[in-house]
Amino acid sequence: MTFQARIENYIFNLKHHEDIPLVLRASIRNAPISLVLLTQKCVNNKEIITVLSRWRKKHEQWFFETFPISYERTKRWYVNHLMNDADRLLFLIHVGNTRLGHVGLDKFDYKNRTADIDNIVRGEPGYPGAMEASIRRMMLWGRETLGLREYTLSTFSDNIRALSLYYRLGFHETQRVPMIQKRTKEGTKWVEVKGWRHTQKIQRYMLSMRTQQKDGYIKKALGTLKPSKKKIAFAGPSITQSEVDTVVEAVNHGFYDTHDSHVRLLEQTISDYVGRRYALAQFCATHALHLACITCGFTKGDEVIVTDFSWAATAHVIAYTGATPVFVDIDPTTWCIDPVAVERAITKKTKGIMIVHSFGMPCDMDAILRIARTYKLKVIEDAAPSLGSTYKGKQTGGFGDVGCISFHGAKIAVSGEGGVYLTNSKRKRDQAVLYSNMGRTNRKANFWCDVIGYEYQMANVTAALALAQVRRIEELVAKKRQIFTWYWERLKDMEEITLLREKDGMRCNYAYPAVFLNARHISRDDLVKKLRNYNIHAREAFPRMSTFPMYEARFANPVASQVAKHGFNLPSALNLNERDIDFVCAVLRRLLR
Ligand SMILES: Cc1ncc(COP(=O)(O)O)c(C=O)c1O
Repeated sequence: MTFQARIENYIFNLKHHEDIPLVLRASIRNAPISLVLLTQKCVNNKEIITVLSRWRKKHEQWFFETFPISYERTKRWYVNHLMNDADRLLFLIHVGNTRLGHVGLDKFDYKNRTADIDNIVRGEPGYPGAMEASIRRMMLWGRETLGLREYTLSTFSDNIRALSLYYRLGFHETQRVPMIQKRTKEGTKWVEVKGWRHTQKIQRYMLSMRTQQKDGYIKKALGTLKPSKKKIAFAGPSITQSEVDTVVEAVNHGFYDTHDSHVRLLEQTISDYVGRRYALAQFCATHALHLACITCGFTKGDEVIVTDFSWAATAHVIAYTGATPVFVDIDPTTWCIDPVAVERAITKKTKGIMIVHSFGMPCDMDAILRIARTYKLKVIEDAAPSLGSTYKGKQTGGFGDVGCISFHGAKIAVSGEGGVYLTNSKRKRDQAVLYSNMGRTNRKANFWCDVIGYEYQMANVTAALALAQVRRIEELVAKKRQIFTWYWERLKDMEEITLLREKDGMRCNYAYPAVFLNARHISRDDLVKKLRNYNIHAREAFPRMSTFPMYEARFANPVASQVAKHGFNLPSALNLNERDIDFVCAVLRRLLR
């Protein structure tokens, strides 16, 4: 008798002729598990057919086909496929007194001695680890009794819970096929996209997975998540031929009479995009913010209310002018300055408010502007990370007396170093031009200076790169938002972390997806370190600026303290793809559970 005939006979007998069904036993933390083979005898067992229908309905999204599910239809499937297909079987999983789910085998490849693990369904919650233990047990049985050497399975790329289970069981991905959903007469069906092009939007992928052909593959597969070969970078740009061409053009033609042609074009393009009358390109956003403080008139003796949670530049530029930064707390849902805290911190000396759209999340601008109007305060928007984010349809950087955006290499649009100063005020703009150019007026002679200014202006070649990037900003925002969505789909149900999400009326550019670590069995710093071992480069949230030695440590700011300790940003370099995000999420689950 051939191997195939032997197996088929054996399975047929198990399903049709045994008086007592086959039961495989396992356990988790003292709860007994039994895998009971479904047989011909259960065809008329209403309870079983009903539960199979219910679970199928509940997990419809993970099947390749949807159709109206009924008792009769499930029964037909049970008889025609489960019982009559020679190479198909299904175990019901019982844990204690609970009927937990099912798992089966299908599509035997007799030549290579492999079979598909099929119909993996957790029907009910509870008993963590029970599905894993059950599948492991069935795999062991298949190897020892049926002589199988390897297992295969298919799943969808967004079934992240299942994926991390399969990785733990020793499966690895062998193929990834782009899929789209088609309507059928009865429902829907996922089919392969033929001739898929890179630019086409894919709804999900079908992943083929298999176990490694080596002894012990059923053992706990702790080593299966190997470090990524690709650096999963925290940030990084998208550079195309258009950036290269624009820079080359500036190198070839951006001197002599046209020495600032790209600077002017950049200023025009960004002021149009943000919706501001004037834009001035600077060496970096820190310089633009310093000019903002000067042109808002901050000086020694003034107080400027500033978020406690930002990169140092936000506070330092206030101090450059001699004014005193007064650090206030943040909103836990946006990590942006808390308007209530702002109002509480106002004194007679308060001259202005410096806000930051943290990690691209827009601040509560209605509240900030209302306070500014009431107390006659200047508002500077540090929009360094938020190009492309909007609040009630208006671009960030377009609200304050001055707004500043950064093109630093880690930002959504880059020029290496670079920044822009934005305002609607002609007076402020003229003053910023003066200070960014050493205070030069040529009033009494060429090179004449009237104030002590700074050499802050952006170089033309740098402007060319920034210009090409700003022209693509909507595309870059779309990619960042896609990366965030991939994270969101995979991590939203994890209690161990909270992802910050935009609120109604906002569009966040998700330049740096922000996460709060709720789990306490691992510290944020250890988590970031461990991720690095997998070549995943997350980044710790900012420490509170008010705790730096040069500032007064008199501000409590409990929310900023918590975020400084437990917050981090997930990698979101623009060269990441869905597979990279799958990997980051699988590793996160591994480390956090
Ligand atoms: C919130 C914030 N403000 C200011 C800056 C300064 O920008 P730049 O590096 O262009 O000077 C940054 C840059 O990282 C930032 O994140």
